[in-house]
Formats: sequence, structure tokens, C-alpha cells
Amino acid sequence: MTERVLMAPSILSADFTSLGDAVRLVAGGGADLIHVDVMDGHFVPNLTIGPPVVKAIKRVTDVPLDVHLMIENAEETVGWYLDAGADLVVVHAEACDHLHRVVQTIHAAGAQAGVSLNPATPVEVLRDIVGDLDLVLLMSVNPGFGGQSFIGRTVEKVRRLSALCAEEGATPLIQVDGGIDTNTAPLVVEAGARVLVAGSAVFCKADPVSAMNAIRAAGERVL
Ligand code: DX5
Ligand code: ZN
Repeated sequence: MTERVLMAPSILSADFTSLGDAVRLVAGGGADLIHVDVMDGHFVPNLTIGPPVVKAIKRVTDVPLDVHLMIENAEETVGWYLDAGADLVVVHAEACDHLHRVVQTIHAAGAQAGVSLNPATPVEVLRDIVGDLDLVLLMSVNPGFGGQSFIGRTVEKVRRLSALCAEEGATPLIQVDGGIDTNTAPLVVEAGARVLVAGSAVFCKADPVSAMNAIRAAGERVL
């Protein structure tokens, strides 16, 4: 298991009128992934961006793009995001009837595959696929919006996911998304998370790079 905490700043909280600058800023400041939240107004009650914006972001950075698909029809449209340059594609278990097939499609395109679970979805649904995954994303808020409060039960859920992975001999990275800041980062890292998504706690700060690295440092203190 890596002894580093990887940071995936979520551009959802960036200023969309100068998105390229925001991406370049955190990329230059040590971001490990750029987290891109795709929402369709159906799976989640918000609508954000799609493939053309993913493609545009890809042009301004070499940092891998972590594309979080909060959409109903990921099985039909995942190819759009792969073609747009996603390096890691994360789909929701709740939105995919044929999760294994989507993961195969992502891998066949040479990208990494992740699966995300909403707060109310038990980790057990991943038992028969966790060995095929590069990453599991546990949502620590109900997906749809930045700036929500961290759901405390997520800490125990990360622990249960870590145990399930050990039982299955699987080693996906565990990512947590929602309400991550310098207070919540150590809680989830201690439980087994190694990739932290942070939106408002990075981009709503005067110095996003310092804020991002402070969250990483808070997490790494418990390793
Ligand atoms: C929420 C998104 C998150 C969001 C997190 O549905 O998936 O990535 O940007 O925002 P914060 O860090 O503000 O909770
Ligand atoms: Zn996200």
C-alpha cells in the first residue's frame, strides 16, 4: 500500500470562466489527479460538463484526468470520455447494470477503471468485482454538489472496504469524495483511503495550492 496520500482536486469548485488557469495552478502545485465531475441532471440533481470540456482540460495538463461519471447512461457513453482523454474513469455502481462490462470497456481503451458508491450503497456490492478495479471511490456526501458536510459513517465504511479488499486479495486505491478538508482527511486516511478528492476546501481558498497540500499533509500525518 502506498504511503503517500494522493490529491485529486475537484474542479467543480473552480471558477469555470478561467478553468484552464485553475487546472494549471493545481497541476503545478503537485496535484496527483485532476478530478472532473460529470453530472447529467438525472442520476444527480445537477448538470455540469461533458466530453468537450474534458478534452479541453486534457490539452492544458499532463496530470492524469480522474473523470467521475455521475450519469445514468455511463454504459452507453463511457467511450466519449475515453476518447476525450480520461486517464481514470469512475462509474457509479448504482447506475450500471453491467458493471463488469463497463470496467472491461475502460480497460480495453487503456485507461484505469474505478467504481463509486453512494453513501447508502454497501461495500459488499463490490465483492465480485473489486479484484478488477484500479480504484474504489466512496462518496462521503450525496453526489451532486460541492461544499456539503462530510458524512461521518464514511470512516467506518472505508474500514469495511479495506477489509473486503484484503479478504479478496484486491488492492484498488481507495478514494473518498465529499467534505474532505484538513479535519476529515486524517480520519479517512487512517481507515485506509489513499486518494482524496477536495473541491471547496481547495478552490474556495485564497491559496488553492497551499490548501491542497495542507489536506495531503493532514492525511499523511496518520500514516
Ligand atoms: C460531489 C462531487 C465532488 C465535489 C466535492 O458530487 O463528486 O467531487 O466536487 O466537493 P467538496 O470537496 O466541496 O465536498
Ligand atoms: Zn466527484
